[in-house]
Amino acid sequence: MVEQTLLPAQHEQLAVRTVPEMVDAIYRLAVRGAPAIGVAAAFGVLLGVQDQGGLERGAFLGHAQAVCDELATARPTAVNLFWALNRMRDRLAKDEATGADVPALIGGLFEEAHAIYESDRATCRRMGEIGAELITDGQSLLTHCNAGALATAGMGTALAPMYVAAEQGKKIHVFADETRPLLQGARITAWELMQADIDVTLITDSMAACVMQEGKVDAVFVGSDRIAANGDVCNKIGTYGVALCAQAHDIPFYVVAPLSTIDPSLSDGSLIPIEERPPAEITEGFGRRTAPEGVMTYSPAFDVTPARLVTGLITEVGLLQAPDTESILDALARGEQGAT
Ligand code: MRU
Repeated sequence: MVEQTLLPAQHEQLAVRTVPEMVDAIYRLAVRGAPAIGVAAAFGVLLGVQDQGGLERGAFLGHAQAVCDELATARPTAVNLFWALNRMRDRLAKDEATGADVPALIGGLFEEAHAIYESDRATCRRMGEIGAELITDGQSLLTHCNAGALATAGMGTALAPMYVAAEQGKKIHVFADETRPLLQGARITAWELMQADIDVTLITDSMAACVMQEGKVDAVFVGSDRIAANGDVCNKIGTYGVALCAQAHDIPFYVVAPLSTIDPSLSDGSLIPIEERPPAEITEGFGRRTAPEGVMTYSPAFDVTPARLVTGLITEVGLLQAPDTESILDALARGEQGAT
């Protein structure tokens, strides 16, 4: 995988060979972004089972479940992690029911992980095509955090409509919020968009309101880590503020996320578990102390934007205008039908 913590100064590959190494890579944000975390977890299961072909069947099944349990501890918020692990568990259960032996069970898990990877690529492309219809030539967009190719197995979520719009010959400009404290916007989004030859202007998070007030933003596109059944959207800390500013300036606020990011078991966003990150990330980020020793800190990694602030949710089955429980459950049902 790309070691994302070193970007953009260094572009290095990280070899992940064991389950604890995968848990660590996800926790450290070496691999990050909700869909990418899901794909990484699925491949993490393979790391845990690929050499266990010699186990007796019952022991193998117990071991595979323990591997999934271990991977589930990596980070709590992005539901794609648990969604991908559930798909791996479901595949195991399905193959077990057919009486498959251990090598066949391992083969099934390989197939499932690759299917998750491939479907994420296709899903990103589809969301890009749907979202690009909302972008017109000459528009200036704003995004927060990184929801591009490095956050998925494909071309990204929030950045996918931008990539497709650019492919279609539309000239667009993007404001990238730097995204304190870990700077995914500065380090990754700005870098990705520059690689794709899309005009990008880096701003600090606190400048977003100002550029909107100055009339420089036509629409906001962000990704999500978990969406509750009622359409409340959890995304990188700072997204809620961006959504409030967009509403105050009558700017459309779009969320781009695959159905795998929707958690229908949670009725609203207040139930979404929010990861808290270590104090050092805000007191001495990137190795330089910027706050007094011993200061109290609070560092939630994500916030929740209420559904009422979301103009539209772009999924692989279409655009949901002003998403609510009904349209979200309907989209999930259409996704199920498409999958069968
Ligand atoms: O902490 P991170 O970098 O994993 O947070 C990522 C985000 O918040 C993204 O916006 C979200 O996962 C959508 S990604 C396609």
